[in-house]
Amino acid sequence: MYTLRRWVESVGGHALTIDGIANFEDACTVLANRGPEVHANYQNLCPMFGVTWPAARGLCQRLSTTSLRGRSVLELGCGLALPSLVAAKMGARVVATDQHPDTEAFLRRNMHNNGITALRYETFDWHGTLPAGVRERSFDHVIGSDVLYTIEMPDILARAYERFIGPNGTGWLTDPGRPWLTEFISACEGLGLSVSDDVVVGDDGKDDAFLLLLRRT
Ligand SMILES: C[S@@+](CC[C@H](N)C(=O)[O-])C[C@H]1O[C@@H](n2cnc3c(N)ncnc32)[C@H](O)[C@@H]1O
Repeated sequence: MYTLRRWVESVGGHALTIDGIANFEDACTVLANRGPEVHANYQNLCPMFGVTWPAARGLCQRLSTTSLRGRSVLELGCGLALPSLVAAKMGARVVATDQHPDTEAFLRRNMHNNGITALRYETFDWHGTLPAGVRERSFDHVIGSDVLYTIEMPDILARAYERFIGPNGTGWLTDPGRPWLTEFISACEGLGLSVSDDVVVGDDGKDDAFLLLLRRT
């Protein structure tokens, strides 16, 4: 149902061959024309997962400056999962998650494209129950990029980070500067996470993103 395109993402010293959706607006139009049963669930089915957003490159940039070999990483709202693919290439034990029903098929393609076998995918909606085999408070790093774009997201996402960051772990979130960032910081602090902020710049000097670092207090 999607028209695809293939491109190379060069980020943080890694070059990854990615298959994604050729044109996001066209894919939204195709979805909207599928009828009323789609309209009722449009927000969840919207194919935002199918392109790499600049904040994902910013997160890869940050990951590539950290020693990840043997570390456990959980990605929330992974979409095309560029950060998970980079972390897996760096030797991390990665679980990539998203709620969209088409995400896993794209991840499998992109793992194959890049010779990556050790990366696990689980369907996970931040509102929902724990995926099988994923334990709370058990990850060295919980990561996410551009996942704050509706009014309910700051609270549910803060809860998801708090749920999975291990006792000495960290959370990283990159964001292009959407309006919900301040609410997210307050929600994290309300759950006992400390938040510090920074800015990451892409390899090409263009992909600036706000970076939040979360820790248990
Ligand atoms: C703007 S896209 C960002 C994708 C990817 N992180 C990136 O930066 O390229 C937002 C992603 O969050 C996912 N998402 C939205 N709401 C979610 C929820 N409640 N639970 C899990 N994933 C969700 C969407 O399916 C989508 O893949």
